[in-house]
Amino acid sequence: MMEDMMKKRVFSPPIVLLLLAFSLLLMLPEASATKFTVGDNRFWNPNINYTEWAKGKHFYLGDWLYFVYDRNQANVLEVNKTEYETCNSDHPLQNWTRGAGRDVVPLNVTKTYYIISGKGFCFSGMKVAVHVEKLPPPPKASPVVSGAPNLFSSGHILLMPVVFAIGTAWDAFIHLW
Ligand SMILES: *[C@@H]1O[C@H](CO)[C@@H](O)[C@H](O)[C@H]1NC(C)=O
Ligand SMILES: *[C@@H]1O[C@H](CO)[C@@H](O)[C@H](O)[C@H]1NC(C)=O
Ligand SMILES: *[C@@H]1O[C@H](CO)[C@@H](O)[C@H](O)[C@H]1NC(C)=O
Ligand SMILES: *[C@@H]1O[C@H](CO)[C@@H](O)[C@H](O)[C@H]1NC(C)=O
Repeated sequence: MMEDMMKKRVFSPPIVLLLLAFSLLLMLPEASATKFTVGDNRFWNPNINYTEWAKGKHFYLGDWLYFVYDRNQANVLEVNKTEYETCNSDHPLQNWTRGAGRDVVPLNVTKTYYIISGKGFCFSGMKVAVHVEKLPPPPKASPVVSGAPNLFSSGHILLMPVVFAIGTAWDAFIHLW
C-alpha cells in the first residue's frame, strides 16, 4: 500500500506535462535552423566540387555554414561574385577565419554568400556559393487554432499524436489502477 502511493506521487500528471513541455522546447531549435558542415564528411578541402555539394540543398535565414579544415593551410573569406569567379582574395568582404580551423558563418541575410579560401586554394576548388532564402511560409493545410497556433505549425504536427497518445495512456493507467 505504501509503495503504491509512492509510485503515484512520482508519476503525477504535472510532472508528465512538465517533461512534455521540456521535450517540446528541445525540439524547437532543431526545427528552425540547420548547421551545414561544408563538404559533409570531406570538410573544407581542395579537389572537392562545392557546387555539387550545394546542389539541391536549401539554405534558409538563420542557418549556419560550418567550415572544418587544417588551420595551417586554408582559411574562410567572404568575397563578392567577381572575386569568387576569379579567386581574388585580396579584398574580402568579410574574414570569417578565427584561427582554429573551425569557423561558423551565420547565414543571417537573404543573399548569395560567396566564400573562398585564400592562399591559392580557391584555384583547387575551395570555393562555395550558397543562396540564402527566407523561411518558406507554413503550409496552407495546417489549421490555425487561436490560442495554440505554434503547436500546429509545420514541424510540430508530428508531436501532437504523441501528446494525445501519452494522454490516453495516462487515462488508461489511472483507470487500471
Ligand atoms: C562542379 O560541378 C558543377 C555542377 O555539376 C559543374 O558545372 C562544374 O563544371 C564543376 N566544376 C569543376 C571544377 O569540375
Ligand atoms: C567586387 O569588388 C571589386 C573591388 O574589390 C569590384 O571591382 C567589383 O566590381 C565587385 N564586383 C561585384 C559583382 O560587386
Ligand atoms: C583573417 O583573420 C585571422 C584571425 O584574426 C587572421 O589571422 C588572418 O590573417 C586574416 N586573414 C585575412 C586574409 O585577412
Ligand atoms: C549578420 O551577422 C553578422 C556577423 O555576426 C553581423 O555582423 C551582421 O550585423 C548580421 N546582420 C544582420 C542583418 O543581422
